[in-house]
Parts: sequence; structure tokens; C-alpha cells
Amino acid sequence: MTQDELKQAVAQAAADYVAANAPAGSIIGVGTGSTANFFIDALAALKDRYKGAVASSEATRQRLEGHGIRVFDLNEVDDIPVYVDGADEIDAGLNMIKGGGGALTREKIVAAVATTFVCICDESKRVAAMGKFPLPVEVIPMARAHVARELAKLGGTPVLREGFVTDNGNLILDVKDLHITDPKTLEGQINQITGVVTNGLFAMRPANLLLLGTAGGVRSIVA
Ligand code: A5P
Repeated sequence: MTQDELKQAVAQAAADYVAANAPAGSIIGVGTGSTANFFIDALAALKDRYKGAVASSEATRQRLEGHGIRVFDLNEVDDIPVYVDGADEIDAGLNMIKGGGGALTREKIVAAVATTFVCICDESKRVAAMGKFPLPVEVIPMARAHVARELAKLGGTPVLREGFVTDNGNLILDVKDLHITDPKTLEGQINQITGVVTNGLFAMRPANLLLLGTAGGVRSIVA
């Protein structure tokens, strides 16, 4: 199976999960990235069953609307039963690194509202310890140099993502060389740096369910 076929298989499994678990008439949270895009395409077949979706990025909003799925502002929504999104790395506790596509802040906000976070990815994303994938940190532009110095004090090597501006008008520092032994503590420490909007560690709010695409089929994994 190609990587795209694995992504397509988990995306379909997530659509099946949504159909079985999200009440008709509810609003579905939708993530960002190539795997989430396959999920959006699968969700289109269910669009008459749901009121609509909340998007974690402008790219996702456009793709949902392209399928005729109504997209709601999160402030209009009280309850998201299921949020489906990909990850750049995921560990055995279903802690994740996200933000390879730069949408980490909106993803974290939608995930905070959702009851169940379903992570969809192929097996290349599953790791024993996170940190090989550089950790994205969204930063207010005027704080870029200050935040970079503080991240270096934590042992990281921050690199500005060149030519990239987030949907929120901010910058991304991709941080290499971090030894992530305690993801929840590190998530909090980085968020405490003045000028950081948020970072791509999802450990305070990990996934509830991982649908993992493997050569042998889709595996359902809970922490
Ligand atoms: C977007 O900002 C990310 O958090 C994505 O969810 C993550 O990068 C996974 O993307 P792919 O599904 O394209 O690998």
C-alpha cells in the first residue's frame, strides 16, 4: 500500500467512526493536512446527516465548502462531539506533535472544545519518543528573537519557517534537538514564554483514539 492509500484508509475509518458516534445534526471538528483532506473527502458522503463542521484552518474551510459542507465559526458552537485530525508524531500515550502544516493553534482550540479527538495517521507517524520531528511554535512576530533565545535555553535549536505566516498572522519557529521526556511539562513551559501563542505539543489534551493505517489494515488504539 502507498502512503496515500494508508491515509485514505484511516480517513474512511474516521468517517465510519463519526457516522457511528456523532449524533445526527451535530457539528464535526475537522483538522488540517493531507490526511485530514482525505477525511474531508470521506465526510462529504455524510454531509446531509450533519449540521456542518468547524475548520482548524482556512485551507480546511475552503475544502469543506468545496464539498458543500457548511462551516461554522467556533464561537457559534457549544459542542463538538468528534474532532478528526492528523499528526506529525504520536506516542503510546497518544501525545502528539502537530503543526507541520502551521495550523497548530486553531487545531488546539478546536481540540479543546471537542469531546473526542480522533487522530488519523499512517504508521510512519508512530514513535516511541517524540522529538525527531521539529516542534512547531507559533510566535507573535515582534517576539521572534526573544522566544528563540528562550527556546535555546530549553535545549532546542529554533529555526524560523521561512516565507510562512499562519492563518493568525504570526510566525512559526520549528525547534530541533529537543529531548521530550515529559511532553506535558514541556508543553506548559514553552507556552509560558512571553510571545508564544502556542506550541505543537498536544499532551495536555492528547488524542482519545488513534486510527493507525498499517499494511495489515487500520488499527484502533487507545492510550
Ligand atoms: C497541520 O498543522 C498539522 O498539525 C497536521 O495535522 C499534521 O502536520 C499532519 O499532516 P499530514 O496529514 O499532512 O501528515
